[in-house]
Amino acid sequence: MATKIMIGNHKGGAAKTQTALEMAYYLAKKEKRVLFIDVDPQANATKILSKNTPTEKRVLPDILINGDEIMHDDISSCKLDTAGHHIDYIASGLRAGRLESRLSDDTPKEYVLKDALETIEKDYDFIIIDTPPSAEIVVINSLIASDYVLLTCNAAMFGSDGVDKLMPIINGIQRRPRMNPNLRVLGILVTMYENFIDCNQTVNDLCDKYGDFVLFPYIRRTTQVGQSNRHYSFIQEYRPRSTSACDYRQVFDQLFQIDEP
Ligand SMILES: Nc1ncnc2c1ncn2[C@@H]1O[C@H](COP(=O)(O)OP(=O)(O)OP(=O)(O)O)[C@@H](O)[C@H]1O
Ligand SMILES: [Mg+2]
Repeated sequence: MATKIMIGNHKGGAAKTQTALEMAYYLAKKEKRVLFIDVDPQANATKILSKNTPTEKRVLPDILINGDEIMHDDISSCKLDTAGHHIDYIASGLRAGRLESRLSDDTPKEYVLKDALETIEKDYDFIIIDTPPSAEIVVINSLIASDYVLLTCNAAMFGSDGVDKLMPIINGIQRRPRMNPNLRVLGILVTMYENFIDCNQTVNDLCDKYGDFVLFPYIRRTTQVGQSNRHYSFIQEYRPRSTSACDYRQVFDQLFQIDEP
């Protein structure tokens, strides 16, 4: 069965998408079978993975609104693959509208993604879920469907507020036996770090509150990340020697401890 990892933070601009993409790239390079699921209607990860090519396939909200009728073929029919990167992905998009408004009242809304993944997870080693900056139903679905949640925190702009908001939601889901008592926090990843007073203040606050959950090294800010986005690439691919790429590799080496293929 796949290990399912959600990347989250209640706040926008915390490098959730960047981190989810880098994790998928890292694991695929280690020859792991990776499925990337974009549940964010902004579809930023989808744009990068598809190189901004619109898909005729159904996007994630289309299958989630079918709720309890999801079959293996339903979710498989959404699967796309990235040319050359060996990452399958399920696209997001706005065309199905907000998931909440499309689910019928009698659908058990929180478990739809978990049920959908049961039919497909045997085909993968890892499933990486990129989520929007909110606590809306797709985020709750993702927390219930996941084994681990990795929180990202922008060092520069009160990033810890988003961690503070998501943590109680995670704790609530862990406490409820019917939700996801097995959910584990993989760690809190500081992103866009620069060695300035305000970043160090954010990091110190995080360490005071969350101690060992805070991962090291922090992911340093570099303009090359934006350039890699514009090339629909990953920083580890576009500039593998950049500070951000090295930081991501080091953190993932610690988290996954996978031998070279
Ligand atoms: N290490 C980094 N150095 C410089 N820029 C970065 C770095 N990581 C991410 N960025 C940039 O920061 C912006 C926000 O990153 P990203 O889209 O991953 O955040 P997010 O948390 O997914 O945002 P949202 O909540 O809107 O989905 C992007 O433009 C990205 O290129
Ligand atoms: Mg994002």
